[in-house]
Amino acid sequence: MTEHTTQIITITTYDEARDTYRQKALRQALYDAGEVVMGDVLVNLHAAEHRDRRRLENRLFRRETFELYERDLFPPIIADTYAPYLAEGRAELVDLGHQLMMNLAALTAGVDRPLGTPDETRHLYDYLMRFIEGATLAHYTGDRDAKRAEVAEKLAAFDAEFVRPSMARRQAIIDDGGEPPRDVLSILMTNQDDLHLPHDVIVREVAFYLLAGAHTSATAFTRVAHHIFTWLDEHPDDAEIVRTDRLFVQRCTHETVRLQPSSPVAMRWALDDVELRSGRGIPAGAKVVVDLLSVNRDPEVFGPTAEQFDPRRELPDGVPPYGLSFGSGMHACIGQDLAAGLVHAEGDPLDDHIFGLVPEAVQVLFDHGARPDPDDPPEMDASTTRPYFGRYPVVLGG
Ligand code: HEM
Repeated sequence: MTEHTTQIITITTYDEARDTYRQKALRQALYDAGEVVMGDVLVNLHAAEHRDRRRLENRLFRRETFELYERDLFPPIIADTYAPYLAEGRAELVDLGHQLMMNLAALTAGVDRPLGTPDETRHLYDYLMRFIEGATLAHYTGDRDAKRAEVAEKLAAFDAEFVRPSMARRQAIIDDGGEPPRDVLSILMTNQDDLHLPHDVIVREVAFYLLAGAHTSATAFTRVAHHIFTWLDEHPDDAEIVRTDRLFVQRCTHETVRLQPSSPVAMRWALDDVELRSGRGIPAGAKVVVDLLSVNRDPEVFGPTAEQFDPRRELPDGVPPYGLSFGSGMHACIGQDLAAGLVHAEGDPLDDHIFGLVPEAVQVLFDHGARPDPDDPPEMDASTTRPYFGRYPVVLGG
């Protein structure tokens, strides 16, 4: 079916969106143009194939892994990444956010950097940026075929430079009877469920985890900082709370992610006729677009001030503070708790609370008195139709 004859059904309310995510006859459609990186990766699989891969990878995404990452593995990486910026007293948040989140996502994905040199990290960063372009080709404003070919070349180079050596290192540990590190690559290699994944699928899955973890969290990082700066301008009395109350920064993260989902739409193809509980019919062959910008501002759920940023917003029972920005149903984000932490319930102890890597990374900014650089205002990114910041200079210290 060609694009111009396709019926497009747009979902704008919270209840219909949740119901849409639950439908088994609706198949992933968001990454059709991003096949070069996204072919056969988890988010593009359907039905039994998806269930089996998700079951395997779910073995990693458990509370004990979140605790290990948040308490032991992430803090030194966050400190190392920040160190040169703190020393200089300034940072550009878009670049810092991508470096931070790439370093964390590389650990989760299982991409080792044995040399540990700045050059090696720059290579990985360059691969990540090309993979992001590959995955978001649908929104690319330049020559798409040329970009697709460039991304395919980069994927092969990434395999040779990073994936194969990381696999060899894990294989040596396994052959020695040891425990390989807790990451996606080890899970795929030990493959306890016998999925027989070909090497090229493993390479794309690892690249996908690198970008799924890094890009979403990096864009959220800059946006959370921006929302907090704006909030503090309007609520100067909260200046102290962003340093002393880590739950407040986590709530600001959730509120930012609700208003500005990293992926503003979800898309599905109808494999069959579907009827939603609201009575809305979706005919086979139609494309369903879940408009998260509307869904997450549905006044029936988020109230009359749904459009505004309010970290102290009261929510109805069972409604997550980030709305449906992490999806729902079979493709619900596997890294949600890692990225945004767990939702804190009144009275729960704080010492074993999981805050999430985005709030943890943003907290460091405010612990060091970050504020927008008065002489160098933020700019938007002109190379994409999506509303990303291109540069966001801040001053640190004080
Ligand atoms: C602020 C951060 C993040 C946001 C907003 C986000 C958002 C999302 C959304 C909306 C989906 C569902 C896509 C759909 O229904 O079509 C998704 C899926 C996914 N996310 Fe995230 N994500 C974030 C962080 C992460 C991190 C840190 C990881 C990796 C550790 C990750 C890994 C994945 C994976 C593997 C899927 C596919 C799940 C499946 O298809 O079963 N994400 N994410």
